[in-house]
Amino acid sequence: MSNEPKEYSNGEIAIVWKSEKCIHSANCVRSLPGVFKPHERPWISVKNADTPHLKETIAKCPSGALSWKSVKGEAFDKDVDKAVGESAKLNIFADGPILIKGNFEITDSKGNLLEKKESVALCRCGASENKPFCDGTHKKIGFKG
Ligand code: SF4
Ligand code: FES
Repeated sequence: MSNEPKEYSNGEIAIVWKSEKCIHSANCVRSLPGVFKPHERPWISVKNADTPHLKETIAKCPSGALSWKSVKGEAFDKDVDKAVGESAKLNIFADGPILIKGNFEITDSKGNLLEKKESVALCRCGASENKPFCDGTHKKIGFKG
């Protein structure tokens, strides 16, 4: 699967989905099952809900895989906007990743910037194919911890 962000527009906003950040929590599916349908392609049917409900659901994505932007060119990313200026908060997701939200930077072993001021999920089970980020594999291997 390509790691390029995918965009789904309803004419007002575009949902931006970053597959490599998805931890398959299914919060989006539970919140708007008519929009987020993991067994269909495309899996997001953006026109099946209005913009306020889409934004409300995007805010429930724990990993930052979902964000939105105005199709008129204004830059909006609810999680990012909220995070700026806030100190980082780490949360241990049951049987899954470490979720980080807030004002932070992650660098690799050479000092290259990987993430800045966003929400992100870091692998805790050791089985992700996209380390250091969680890719949802913890569910497949039945990670407990
Ligand atoms: S991480 Fe976000 S995009 Fe992935 S399933 Fe959960 S709520 Fe949906
Ligand atoms: S914690 Fe999710 S893949 Fe490891």
